[in-house]
Amino acid sequence: MNYPVWYVPFGSEWVIAAMAILHVFISHFAVGGGLFLVAVETRAEKHYDPALQDWLRRFTRFFVLLTVVLGAVTGVGIWFTIGLISPEATSNLIHIFVWAWAIEWVFFAVEILSILVYAYTWDTLPRMSHRLVGWVYFIAAYLSLVVIDGILSFQLTPGNWLHTHTVWSGFFNPGYLPSLLVRTLICVMLGGLFALLSLSFSKDKTLKAELGRYAAYWVCLPALGLPPAVYWLLHTIPEVHKILLRTNPIIQHFTWLLFLASGLLVVLTFLLVWLRPRSLSPFVVAPLMVLALASLAATEWVREDLREPYLISGYVYINQIPVRQMDSVKEKGLLASSRWVSAQTITPENEVKLGGEIFRIACSNCHLPRRGFNSLGPRLTGLDQPFVAALVSKTDLMRAGMPPFPGRQEEAKALARYLLDNAPKEPVSNDGKAVWRRRCAPCHSVTGPFRPVAKALGGQNAEDIAGIIGSLEVMSDKMPTWTGNDIEKKALAQYLAEACKPASLGGAR
Ligand code: HEC
Ligand code: HEC
Repeated sequence: MNYPVWYVPFGSEWVIAAMAILHVFISHFAVGGGLFLVAVETRAEKHYDPALQDWLRRFTRFFVLLTVVLGAVTGVGIWFTIGLISPEATSNLIHIFVWAWAIEWVFFAVEILSILVYAYTWDTLPRMSHRLVGWVYFIAAYLSLVVIDGILSFQLTPGNWLHTHTVWSGFFNPGYLPSLLVRTLICVMLGGLFALLSLSFSKDKTLKAELGRYAAYWVCLPALGLPPAVYWLLHTIPEVHKILLRTNPIIQHFTWLLFLASGLLVVLTFLLVWLRPRSLSPFVVAPLMVLALASLAATEWVREDLREPYLISGYVYINQIPVRQMDSVKEKGLLASSRWVSAQTITPENEVKLGGEIFRIACSNCHLPRRGFNSLGPRLTGLDQPFVAALVSKTDLMRAGMPPFPGRQEEAKALARYLLDNAPKEPVSNDGKAVWRRRCAPCHSVTGPFRPVAKALGGQNAEDIAGIIGSLEVMSDKMPTWTGNDIEKKALAQYLAEACKPASLGGAR
């Protein structure tokens, strides 16, 4: 383990998310908007229309400002943040794809140069040549997407690369083509959408009527292709990640947001723009932009979360530990493997402090300790140190895609102590369902999709189940030893006897 952790107190995933979502929004527009420009310029040429020509110039200025300035700034921002938050994977991606990056930067330079020439030569270049410059821009922009897509899709579906380690097998990985198709469709939609935004500020109703409807096609038609493209993409994902779609609540919520926002975007574009292009105004386009941003944000979130617990699937875990080193880190100990920690030996005095350091290395990529998004403290209230220590040392068995706990037993104990120190000290409910939630639900559903217990417990009475609960560790060493009191045990057994009854199957989760 070569790098220290950049600890972000409110959660490092938010920094990555903010930067990445903004960049994806702008950079996909940079491709689709370029195509829109040359397509409309060709159209304006066929039946000469000064109003359209005039709007094109204004749209070009807006386009250059947004894509060159904000696109480049957020692009550099991404390198900066992932270099700090995920140094191991960033270094891997650079080393594996050196030549792809070099090619990508050449395309980027051509892009910048050609769009600047395009923007400043409306009046000086002959029509044909001007359009040609536009095409050069679009092709360079699209090719840079073609390159970047290989590297991004590689992270989730490295496929054969894991065995061959050749650049080509990594680049043309199983997810490459479907992901390129999804991105291409999104580019076209954003090209149409930003054109609507610019058009909504125009006062020319005739222009709005003509171009508004045309741009609405750009938003609505590609959207029809998205469901099959996304389906194809999901088909290529390795099984370890696919299961998260069915079991991980955060991914499920964002998937719903994605469907809802993109569906609404298409329906509203049709109703508000295609049917009534003359009354196009910023008030109509603003909610469409918000929906597009929400849908893109959800897509990015799902894409990132589906990759859990890896940064490069099967190769590097999200906490920077390469898969091939995990066993040796576990054996040697996390603290002993991390050069920058304050101490290597755990004593009763420094247990909480070192527990905090272990948390930051192993868990802080996805969790906060005390409060906020996906915080752990509040989930552990009412539990004791031995149980939590057993639980945290089995993170890879839980329903979220978590890496294995990369440490020794005493390190799990220190982490448990730190987390319980951060758990709110409130009385907890001893209702059977609440006990289930605390002590079993991290690894089981009752009947649902994740390691259901209903079949094993169905038909048994509460006393038998209480007996089983008391000796879970005998059944399998993958389960924590029961440490609760008898009231909890009885309530849990009664709840399970009821919920696992064959007749009530399907009701409880
Ligand atoms: C790849 C990101 C990731 C990492 C790294 C990670 N977790 Fe998690 N963890 C999750 C997600 C996602 C959930 C599920 C949240 C939910 O169910 O709402 C979760 C849930 C949990 C739960 C609660 C399960 C429940 O249902 O109550 C515990 C306990 C937990 N993690 C402990 C840890 C510990 C300890 C570490 C560090 C050793 C860790 N996690 C590292 C993503 C991660
Ligand atoms: C850290 C994760 C974890 C926790 C917490 C956990 N279990 Fe399990 N449980 C497992 C695993 C893994 C298996 C499968 C064991 C195997 O295949 O060796 C399992 C198996 C079972 C089985 C047998 C299922 C079958 O179909 O054979 C039952 C019953 C069960 N658990 C009940 C419980 C109850 C009740 C609780 C809460 C008190 C609980 N478990 C808590 C991980 C967990």
